[in-house]
Parts: sequence; structure tokens; C-alpha cells
Amino acid sequence: MAAPRSTMKFWKPGSEAPGVSEERELPTETAASAVVHNPHAALSVEKQRQKLPVFKHRNNILYLVESYQTVVIVGETGCGKSTQIPQYLLEAGWAAEGKVIGVTQPRRVAATSVANRVAEERGAHLGHEVGYSIRFDDCSDPHATRIKFLTDGMLAREMMADPLLQAYSVLMLDEAHERTLHTDIAIGLLKKIQRKRRDLRVIVASATLDAKKFQNFFNLNESGDPNKDTCGIVSVEGRTFPVDIFYTLSPVPDYVKATVETVLKIHETEDDGDVLAFLTGQEEVETVVCMLQEQARTLSRHGLKKHLRVLPMYAGLPYSEQMRVFERVPPTVRKVVVATNIAETSITINGIVFVIDCAFVKLRAYDSRTAIDSLVVTPISKASASQRAGRAGRIRAGKCFRLYTEEDFEKLPESTVPEMQRCDLAPVVLHLKALGVDNVLRFNFLSPPPAQSLVQALELLYALGGLDQYGRLSEPVGVHMAEFPLSPMFAKMLLESGNFGCSKEIVTIAAMMQIQNVFVALPNQKKAAAREHRKFSVAEGDHLTMLNVYEAFEKHQKSSRWCQEHFLNYRGLVRAASIREQLRRMLNKFRVPRNSSEGDPDVILRCIVSGFFANAARLHHSGSYRTLRDDRELHIHPNSVLYGEKPPKWVVFNEVLQTSKYFMRDVTAVESAWLVELAPHFYKQAKHGSLASKRSKIL
Ligand code: CDP
Ligand code: MG
Repeated sequence: MAAPRSTMKFWKPGSEAPGVSEERELPTETAASAVVHNPHAALSVEKQRQKLPVFKHRNNILYLVESYQTVVIVGETGCGKSTQIPQYLLEAGWAAEGKVIGVTQPRRVAATSVANRVAEERGAHLGHEVGYSIRFDDCSDPHATRIKFLTDGMLAREMMADPLLQAYSVLMLDEAHERTLHTDIAIGLLKKIQRKRRDLRVIVASATLDAKKFQNFFNLNESGDPNKDTCGIVSVEGRTFPVDIFYTLSPVPDYVKATVETVLKIHETEDDGDVLAFLTGQEEVETVVCMLQEQARTLSRHGLKKHLRVLPMYAGLPYSEQMRVFERVPPTVRKVVVATNIAETSITINGIVFVIDCAFVKLRAYDSRTAIDSLVVTPISKASASQRAGRAGRIRAGKCFRLYTEEDFEKLPESTVPEMQRCDLAPVVLHLKALGVDNVLRFNFLSPPPAQSLVQALELLYALGGLDQYGRLSEPVGVHMAEFPLSPMFAKMLLESGNFGCSKEIVTIAAMMQIQNVFVALPNQKKAAAREHRKFSVAEGDHLTMLNVYEAFEKHQKSSRWCQEHFLNYRGLVRAASIREQLRRMLNKFRVPRNSSEGDPDVILRCIVSGFFANAARLHHSGSYRTLRDDRELHIHPNSVLYGEKPPKWVVFNEVLQTSKYFMRDVTAVESAWLVELAPHFYKQAKHGSLASKRSKIL
């Protein structure tokens, strides 16, 4: 058989020494007796619900929620926290008198998929009794919805309209261990609300959590009498099978390639069971899916009896395609799900027996020295590694292939740093100010962020005109900015667009910046795709290029066929259209005039600068760029239309991605004079501060 053979070599600690087993194939024996087919498959919904580990704790959980203001629930992923607890609460009457049981999720996909599942279990139509609300997509009914799943970011937004969250009787902060920015904001604010609303119940749920830390934080009892504690803890033991861990014998130079090889190796040598591979982002996932689909075709031509069904899973994937990973496959098919960190705790895919872990994750990072907020591919923590491995032991004994050595595993940090301590805090500060928290430095954070990051956030918001000289939210700019479901820089750009005379174009650009990978290309069609993509590209950069794409898409009646012919992401563009419409409505509400630049690009570029002046960089003689704020070295991302072209002298960018270097994404050429003219506060402040030397370079 000429099918491709994998060269990956693994070692299981505790077995023969790695040197000896070098030539050994992967163990192929999977005891047939260990295979337990999903025992729930044929049971009624009610019976299935009762089989879940959390069911045994139903009464105890309800009792604790009755007796304590806050309950911390720790339980293995898949034990039934997200789907069952809200239903127990509903059944126990917590949604009486029009109150809502709210469940927050750090990820959009978790909110929608869990809402779907719960609606299904209740035989309810999604959006009525059970609903969800995520940014740019609200599928809930203000009167009918009793259980509402929402992203933690949406909860933060709801607090602006309803500061005491009067609509809710219970709020469950799910996946709290992820410690996202918004979860942490919600934690701080809920504690504040609980002092005023003794009736509001908070449930903090997670698979891996330092329960004591949360209990200490939420306990409002200052009397020292434990009988008066306001926070209780439940621990739900899981029902999991052992997972054998394998490490590579030597470090893996390219984990994308290694993932493909390991999948093939599993497929060739292992018994039944689906595969889940973890990678860091959409692009890696798509690359691996493409490579594996190609291989799968070769394999089936060579008559391998089992087929591979390779499916991607990441946050930006359209809902219908995300749902495909949950579908059952016939016994002649092996399902391979290639996912981002989304599959670590947020979703449970049945049937997984093999896990491949690349050891990395893409996270936000903020360098308070340089004020750069970036996405970084960083090593995972030990807690994450064990959580990933655990995904293999859900239906029977499983195997986890770690694409790193055991030595490297030992070097991983124990747990991940909360996002609050590693991101740009401008949105947080703006939000807290909007909720009346004047002294953000004194806010009760579960894990306080570095003071310097807070100060930088205040400076930026002041420069954007969102705060006045006393640090208060300005009227109306700051108030409107806080209401926007986008970062302060985007909000400023949008709010200014009417004054520049280009709100029509700016709304489109802002919407297009919310979707990833507009240009698509299969590996074997790269040249043809590049030729098509060039038709939209302009020398000014990515923003105007994306404007061209969207306007052409509209001109061609939003046709999917047209997208296919031009190698454009049709679903992405449809989503952009929906986001665009919502942003347009917000601008209407804020009475931003509707106007168009009528083909004058400078007007649009100046408007972009008015929002993104803090993300400005100038060309350095070395050929790379340097930020104006702190002289940090940056490069143009290979996906930018400016990549490989004659580099403009001055650029602004939306985002930084950090891999081997710092890369700017969504980059546009600008004039240096605009920076000084449009950001006088920022660059005047620079005169006295650390930016002084940079200012002279602009002038
Ligand atoms: O939140 P937790 O990880 O504790 O579990 P859950 O999301 O409530 O899921 C409980 C069980 O429901 C899982 O073990 C799955 O078997 C099942 N489930 C499912 O089949 N389909 C879904 N979309 C969600 C859950
Ligand atoms: Mg869950």
C-alpha cells in the first residue's frame, strides 16, 4: 500500500526507555473489553438527564442556592453543569414572576451550542423559553425567555441598561476558570450588586477551579461566624476513563505537520474511536483540515476500510458547520475534529478516544512597557494539558498524544494568567466608568491588573476623547463609546465618521474588520486565488481593500457563486453584512450623519487615524516598523495586502499578532501630519512624557 506513512514517534512514560523503543510502532492493542458504547444512546431524554453525574447532586445544589448568595460548583467537563443546573433551577421555581436564569459563557459557540442543547432537551423552540444572546446575534425573547445563555461580554453590556441586573434571579458564571476579561469584570460587579440585592444568586461553575479563592472573594460575611458565610461549594465527581499519555521522543519542529502525521498514524494503527486535535487558530485548523482531507482521499483510493471525516471547529466558523462536529458517524467512518482551544472545556464532542495536543494556545497579551496589545501563541499550562487529555476519556479508556517531550511538559506553567492581567484595559476602564465606578484603581478585582496598565488605559481614553480631564466619562462621546459593542478605538472611528463625511464607508470597514479570513484559498489554488484577490487590493492597505471587497459583494447581489469565483469567504461576508446593519442602526441612534466620501480615499483614511492613532508605526531604515508610542519593532503580517509591496512610511494598524515576531494585521498607509493633527492630546501629552522623542520624529 502506497498510502502515506507517518514518521511520528511517541513514548509513554513508565514504559521502556525512549532510546530503546525508538523503532517501536504505536501500541495498537486497545482491549475490546474496554470499549463501552455510549450507554445513553437509546435512552429517553429524561433518563439521559438522570444518568449525568450532576443529577445526584441536584437536591444539594438547590439547597445551597437557596441558602447561600453564592455557590461555587466544580465538576468534570461533561458532568452536566451547563445543560442541567439551569434546568434544575427552572424546575425549582427560580424563574417565577418573569425572572430569568442567566448563564454566561466565555465563548460565543458555547453559548449557542448549549442553548440549542437545552432547548432540545426541553422540547422548546430556541429563542422562546430557552434563548441565547451573543454579540451581534440576540436569539431571546424579553418576555418568554426563562433560561438565557449569554457571553460574559453581553452580560457586561446588559449591566449598562440594568445596573442591578433586576431581570435575573440567578446568574451562573460558567467556565469561570478561563478568567476572561469579561468574566472577571462580571465577578467584581456581581459582588458589588450582591451587597445591594440579597436575593440575587450567583453560581460560579467550572471544571478546574481554585474554589477556595472564589469562596473567599464572594464571602460577604465579615462576622467571623462560619454560620453566616454567604458562599458554599459543591464538588461533582466525574465519570471518566483512564487516558494513557504519550510524549514525543524529541521536540517537534512543526506541530502543524506533526498533527497531520499523528492523525494518520492513529488512523493506520489504532482501533475505533474519533480523534480530537488541538491547534491555536483558524488558519492552522484550516491548513490541517485541508492536508488531512487530501490524505483521506488518497487513503480511500488505497482501499483502507475506514474512512476519515475531517471537520474543523473554531469560533469564527458558521454555526451550521460548527454543529457538524456533534453529528454521529457510521461505524465505517472515523471522525477527526481539528479544533482550537474551544474544544478544551467549552464544548463536549461525544466519541473522542484520541487527543492530539500541540501544547500551544493563542492568547491576548499586553506589554505595559510598550503598551502593545497582541495575540500571542504561547505554551499552554499544565492544567490545560490535563484538561485536553481528559477529552479522550469520556466514553472509554483513551490516549493522548502530546506533541512535545515530557521534559518540556514539566516546564509548562501550572495555570494560565487571568486575561485581566495581560490585556489592554481601555475597554474595561470605559465600561467600569460607564457603570459609575469612578476610581477604577480601587475596584474590587479578583486578580488586580497592573496599575501601569490601568494608567495607560486612562491616558488612551482621554486621548480618544472618551474621558474628560477629571477622568469622568465625557458627554456624549464617552457615553456613546461605552455603549458600542466594539473596542474604544473602533467606537471612536465610527462616531467620528459623520464629521469626516464617510460614515457609509467606515461602517462597512468596521464590519469587515470583525470577520477573519475574507480571502480564502485552498492549497492547490493559491495562485489563482492570489490573482483574484489582487483585483480588490489597493496600495493604501487592508481597510480600503476590504471596503472594495464588500462593495463588490453588494454589487453582485451578495451572490455565493460570485464569492466562490473570487475566492472570498461567503459566510464571512454575510456575517459582515449583518454586523454592518447593526452598526448602522447604532450610528443612527447616536445621530451620526449618513454620508459618503464619494470616492475620496483620504477622508476615510483620516477617519481611521482619528480612532487608531495610538496604533501608529513608522518605517525604520532596517525595513521593519517601529511603534510611535514606544519604538517597538513591528512587521507587516504576510496576510496584509501591503506585505511584499513598497512599504509606506507611516501606517496605522488594528491588531498585533505575535508569533516569531510582532506582526501588524489590518494595516493602512497614512500621512504623518494626520497623526499630529488628529491626535493633539495624545501627542501633546507626549511632550511631557515618554513619547517626547517620538513626537519630534513625526514633525
Ligand atoms: O457543562 P459540563 O461540561 O459539565 O456538561 P454539559 O455541557 O452540561 O453536558 C452534559 C452532557 O450532555 C455531556 O456529557 C454530553 O453527553 C451531553 N451533551 C450533548 O450530547 N450535546 C451537547 N450539545 C451538549 C451536551
Ligand atoms: Mg459546560
